[in-house]
Amino acid sequence: MSNALLKVTGLKKAYGAIQAVGGVSFEVMPGEIFGVIGPNGSGKTTMFNSVLGQITPNEGSIELNGQNITGLSPLELSRRGVGRTFQTLQVFGKMTVRDNLIVAAQEHKGSMFSRMFAPGDSGLGDKADALIDQFRIRHVADKLAGTLSYGQQKLVDIAMAFMAEPDLVLLDEPCAGVNPSLVGGISSLLKELNQNPKFGRKSSFVVIEHNMDFVMDLCHRIMVMVEGKVMAIGTPAEIRANKEVLDAYLGN
Ligand SMILES: Nc1ncnc2c1ncn2[C@@H]1O[C@H](COP(=O)(O)OP(=O)(O)OP(=O)(O)O)[C@@H](O)[C@H]1O
Ligand SMILES: [Mg+2]
Repeated sequence: MSNALLKVTGLKKAYGAIQAVGGVSFEVMPGEIFGVIGPNGSGKTTMFNSVLGQITPNEGSIELNGQNITGLSPLELSRRGVGRTFQTLQVFGKMTVRDNLIVAAQEHKGSMFSRMFAPGDSGLGDKADALIDQFRIRHVADKLAGTLSYGQQKLVDIAMAFMAEPDLVLLDEPCAGVNPSLVGGISSLLKELNQNPKFGRKSSFVVIEHNMDFVMDLCHRIMVMVEGKVMAIGTPAEIRANKEVLDAYLGN
């Protein structure tokens, strides 16, 4: 038996003739920051969507702390401590930053019905404020999210995932479209949330990213996906030195 936090075995997902994910297996250990890299169209997002119950895989199993979670809905997974961010922004532009965080937590808690009858913001405001400080977005907390820069909205988007106090967060390209000057900030924030959070518990991450400096600096281990398959899994140093990976992806 393994002590893995997340264990994915033999995951497959096809779209017609396209084998988007063609038999992917990996384990993420408690406390780990696990990177996923690979060319466009190599199946990274499809793998995430399968793990997170957004789509139904054709084959394979997913375990969380030794429990089978294959096929559970995103809401059920969220209740079990698994969160995510999407490749595209999910913030509500016409709501304030603070309200975005509160609504994200209410969504995690359940139905529209229970939200309508929830008292005030039921303690969620304190949680939102703690995260607003941790994410260093206090100066924009009362602004409409749609008026912020893309990079700042991305921070709000990531913070929303942490309202549920997740054990594991899957981040799909947290740096995409973000001004390079903000990338270092996202990296140190994720390190902080992994090692020394000011709020909630320590989280493990699976991070898809094309920004190699970011991935190599942040991740404990990295998986390389090419054409729906796992080409390599290893430490940043091992991945950098892997000739097959250099030829297929890193070398250009
Ligand atoms: N809903 C869908 N219907 C049909 N084909 C799809 C669908 N989603 C993904 N695909 C195809 O599956 C393959 C893998 O796509 P996926 O989005 O998982 O790649 P990715 O590694 O996340 O790429 P990127 O780095 O560009 O985000 C691609 O060939 C893509 O066109
Ligand atoms: Mg993708």
